[in-house]
Amino acid sequence: MPVIKVHDKSFDIYLPEESIQQRIKEMAALINADYAGKKPLFIAILNGSFMFAADLFKHLTIDAEISFIKLASYKGMKSTGNVVTSIGLEVDIFGREVIILEDIVDTGKTLHHFLPKLTHQQPLSLKIATLLHKSEATVFPLNPDYVGFDIPNKFVVGYGLDYDGLGRNLKEIYQVI
Ligand code: IMP
Ligand code: MG
Repeated sequence: MPVIKVHDKSFDIYLPEESIQQRIKEMAALINADYAGKKPLFIAILNGSFMFAADLFKHLTIDAEISFIKLASYKGMKSTGNVVTSIGLEVDIFGREVIILEDIVDTGKTLHHFLPKLTHQQPLSLKIATLLHKSEATVFPLNPDYVGFDIPNKFVVGYGLDYDGLGRNLKEIYQVI
């Protein structure tokens, strides 16, 4: 199914399932090597990152913990500019090696707002792993440490990413036409 419809928009296939899964294995291998002998705490940002977090986590061979928080700034196809936290962080990150898991870094606004709240709690280290990075869309500069795919500044859905609530269940990633 190369072209699909979600709500009122048409989308074309952009990243097939095999490419996503292959890249996630490579990202996990890098993290396994970088954190050998350590016990990092992964913080996955809901909703969008749930599939990426689950698949990446399965390929980790190091001791690792995971926790989830819910942040949102998007409505429809645009960032609202406001970042809302609706489920907070329940674990203590003081002295921990922390890795944030994001589905996509777009303008950088979400993490720009959230990172100071984490650094304030004095983790030992703090890194960002994102499946997708729209580096052309940067407004708040961030340097994600692990990037799956650098993609053009076009709206995408699938593999956890939604367009107004729909499209998250797709195994592939689709780009708006
Ligand atoms: P940022 O705050 O602008 O970096 O945007 C980050 C959040 O916006 C992501 O975690 C996604 O939830 C959402 N987002 C950004 N771009 C897209 C997209 O192309 N499709 C679906 N959601 C997106
Ligand atoms: Mg998100």
